[in-house]
Amino acid sequence: MGTELKYVIREAREEDLDEVININMISLKEHYPRSFWEDHLRTWNKAFLVAEASSRIVGYIMCRIESGFCYLRRGWCRLGHIISIAVHPNFRRKGIGTSLMLEALKRLKEIYNAKEVYLEVRVSNYPAINLYEKLGFKKVKVLRYYYLDGEDAYLMAKELS
Ligand code: ACO
Repeated sequence: MGTELKYVIREAREEDLDEVININMISLKEHYPRSFWEDHLRTWNKAFLVAEASSRIVGYIMCRIESGFCYLRRGWCRLGHIISIAVHPNFRRKGIGTSLMLEALKRLKEIYNAKEVYLEVRVSNYPAINLYEKLGFKKVKVLRYYYLDGEDAYLMAKELS
């Protein structure tokens, strides 16, 4: 019987960014300049979280706040936008992605007063779509050719009430 992995979810810090960017590079095709990560860390620091296990970063979630027309409720509202989430390949399927999402959703609602949260995900990304559906996200629409390689995205959203 394996021992349960111990990890903490905490706010990201500047010195975490190298490990965060490394996890992004090996996990996703969507990469960003360092200044993009730094901007999000500075501006929405309470919704940029990392998972830490044995003093190393094993996952992250980066979000921002926008104002716009809500996808699920009527009218304009404050929206949380999940820009990127990834867990290091050696640490997947241990509940870390779920923990990162749950803490980010709580903070988007309670600290940033977001009424709804949304994200884009490749239509082929079954692990992530399963995770989002388990947490109550609904597929709202297909964004055709959303990604640089031509793949479509689902826009998925969830109310935070
Ligand atoms: N196949 C099918 N379902 C999966 C898989 C998989 N390989 N991995 C996770 N899930 C689903 C399952 O429903 C799972 O629940 P279960 O284990 O009880 O069956 C549920 O997600 C929760 O799993 P966690 O262990 O909490 O998730 P994990 O820590 O593995 O992280 C993540 C999930 C973040 C999607 C991870 O697979 C990953 O880093 N993938 C590569 C990066 C990526 O695709 N990120 C999302 C891009 S979209 C965006 O960033 C907005």
